[in-house]
Amino acid sequence: MTTSSLFPVSINQLLFFSVQNCMEKCAGTPGIPGTPGASGLPRRDGRDGMKGDPGPPGMVSGPQGMPGLPGRDGVPAVKGPQGEKGNKGERGEPGPQEKISLSFAVLTLEGKITEVGGKILTTNGKEVNFESTLKACEHAGGSIATPKNQEENDAILDIVKQFNRYAYLGIRESDVPGEFQYLDGKPLIYNNWYTSEPNGKGGENCVEMYIDGSWNDRQCDQYRLTICEF
Ligand code: GLC
Ligand code: CA
Repeated sequence: MTTSSLFPVSINQLLFFSVQNCMEKCAGTPGIPGTPGASGLPRRDGRDGMKGDPGPPGMVSGPQGMPGLPGRDGVPAVKGPQGEKGNKGERGEPGPQEKISLSFAVLTLEGKITEVGGKILTTNGKEVNFESTLKACEHAGGSIATPKNQEENDAILDIVKQFNRYAYLGIRESDVPGEFQYLDGKPLIYNNWYTSEPNGKGGENCVEMYIDGSWNDRQCDQYRLTICEF
C-alpha cells in the first residue's frame, strides 16, 4: 500500500477510476475555464420544440383494470399424512357366502337343518319312494341320510319327529337275505333295529326309521320323508 492514510484508496484503484472516467469523457487535458461573457439582450420567444418522449409509467392508484390471466399451476403438493380412521360404515348387503350362512342359521333355528359331527342333515318335506329319495338327495349334491352312530341317528330322528313321518335310510339288504349294508356295500358299523327286525328275509330290501328312531326293514316302494345328508 503506497497511499497515505488520508486517501483511503490504492494507486491501482485510483488508476482504475481514472481510466474508466477518461474512456467516457476525457480525450485530452481540460483547459482552464474562460471568463463568462456578458448577458445579451432579451429576444422574442422561439418556435415550439419537438414533442418530447413519453414519460415513465405513473404510479398505480384507484380501481384496477381487467383481471389478469390465471397464473400457472403450482408445484404438486406432497402427500400429507394419513387422516384419522373414519366411523364404521353401515352394514353392506350380504355376499353369497354370508347369504348361505344366514340361510343355514335360519333353517337351523327352524329345525329344518341339523348339523351333527360335521354332517348336515335336511329335508325338503316331501315323501317319495326309496329310488326317488336317492335321486332327490343326489340332485341336491348330497346323499340319503345314513346314521352311523347314535348321535347321527338322533339328528335324523329330530326331523322324523318334526314331520311325524317315517324316513328311508341309506341302508339296503345285501345279496345275503337278512344282512344289511351301506349303499357302497360296506357292512353296518351301527344299527338301531326295532325289536324282531329285520324280519323281511329278502322281501323287504329297504330300511325305514320309525318315529322313535328305531329301524324296520321294509319294501322300497313306500312313500317316506326325504332326508338327505351333506
Ligand atoms: C309290520 C312289521 C314290519 C314289517 C311291516 C311290513 O309293521 O312289524 O316288520 O316290515 O309290517 O308291512
Ligand atoms: Ca320288517
